[in-house]
Amino acid sequence: MIDRRRFIAGLGAGLGAGAAALTAPTGLWAQSGRFPLVMPPLLDATETGRIDLTAIAGKVRFGGGDESDTWGFNRPFLGPTLRVNNKGETAATVKNTLPEEVSVHWHGLIIPGDVDGGPHQPIAPGETWAPVLPVDQRPATLWYHSHIHGKTAPQVYKGLAGVMQLTDGLDKDRGLPTEYGVDDLTLVLQDRRFDSRGRMVYDPAMRDAMMGFSGNVLLVNGQYQPFTTVPRGIVRLRILNGSNARIYSLAMDDGRDLHLIGTDSGLLDRPMALKTVVVAPAERVELLVDFGTGGNATLVSAPEINSEGGGMMGGMNGGSGRPPIDQPVDPATAFPVLPFSVDESRPAFIDRLPDTLGGELASVTTPVDVTRHLTLDMRMGPSMMLGGGNRFSISGEPFDMGVINQSVKLGATERWLVTGQMLMHPFHVHGCAFQVVAENGGPVRPQNLGWKDTVLVNGDAEILVRFDRPAARDIPFMYHCHILEHEDGGMMGQFTVG
Ligand code: C2O
Ligand code: CU
Ligand code: CU
Repeated sequence: MIDRRRFIAGLGAGLGAGAAALTAPTGLWAQSGRFPLVMPPLLDATETGRIDLTAIAGKVRFGGGDESDTWGFNRPFLGPTLRVNNKGETAATVKNTLPEEVSVHWHGLIIPGDVDGGPHQPIAPGETWAPVLPVDQRPATLWYHSHIHGKTAPQVYKGLAGVMQLTDGLDKDRGLPTEYGVDDLTLVLQDRRFDSRGRMVYDPAMRDAMMGFSGNVLLVNGQYQPFTTVPRGIVRLRILNGSNARIYSLAMDDGRDLHLIGTDSGLLDRPMALKTVVVAPAERVELLVDFGTGGNATLVSAPEINSEGGGMMGGMNGGSGRPPIDQPVDPATAFPVLPFSVDESRPAFIDRLPDTLGGELASVTTPVDVTRHLTLDMRMGPSMMLGGGNRFSISGEPFDMGVINQSVKLGATERWLVTGQMLMHPFHVHGCAFQVVAENGGPVRPQNLGWKDTVLVNGDAEILVRFDRPAARDIPFMYHCHILEHEDGGMMGQFTVG
């Protein structure tokens, strides 16, 4: 059975200092013990070709105590898991019943700018947006979220996000787990800040604006302190970091391997056994975990690795001061993400790791037409401390809805050299999947070898990308840091493809 003591002991253990700590507020509101994890409802559009979403307001009691005001799609907090064909058209409707503009950006879909759902496509209160999504890309785990400029952080925080699975229906043939909620689990990791009465709060102070807003409680699929029961076999975890700012460094508490099978934009060629998998905001990873030997285990995360000591600041502290990203996770300081209880009586659907996955490592083979240099700027010093002016920009240009920052030729292959200042920044590009070709001038971390749409920049990253979808001046694509407070604060640019 579940070792409850260990989970509770893990909750407050050694989580560092300051706002980055994941320590639930003391008070009587918090539930004790753990409750079975619930999957987001599955909205399967593979037959119907239709997705119907309604943005609604709700109230959720997260861990006992008072209710929190929340937003969601079709339910009070977060949205359904959308299952969509990886090739063909899917028609969507998004109705907005909320009192302010929202949008739905299909993060990871490689579709034209006019259906991308970014800041230029707000849905006014009471209105419905009805794009047709022409999908043609590799099967992958994506997500969707609101993307109103200046409001993405509070809106996603409140719940306007969900997972999307792109499928070709062939995962069974690949030997992959496919039973939704049984051996194929969707896990949305989000830290949220709760007050002593149990209400979810969003009240960024100066430090939060700079570091990104982090919570004191971890929610998985919007649930506080879940656990899950799994069959005695191979279990697939599709993990989305849906947090505003927190980076998770995942490991199993007993040291068993995490077998990485997919990254943002598709499956790998074969499973890759790793001890630590780092998931930055907006990144997705697909993992297989082997529970075939029985015995319970817990997915844990190391404390936040992003700090003022990272990025270029680290470099300033004496050359190679930049901390490596994927360090081994110390179980003594880690916090529990999800405890697994193996149900010995439940037959495993999949009991061996597949040798191959039918996916591939990322490889852009077309010659480079253009090289661009981008710096993710954080302004330091007195003006920032006084809150004056734009703290954030890219290459000196804070985001402006009216300014096109880059123009890309349709079909062009580009090399983007991205430099992050002060912190680690998860850098995301719309309308494409890219190859990470170098990190800090050296080899790419193993978990970045697959196709990606978001890369955690810890110093420098070099990406190769071919742009195959058009985006016009009036509805351009975005590139930005996916720490949502940085994005809202101006660390974003827009580009046309044509
Ligand atoms: Cu996930 Cu421009 O966003
Ligand atoms: Cu996106
Ligand atoms: Cu950033």
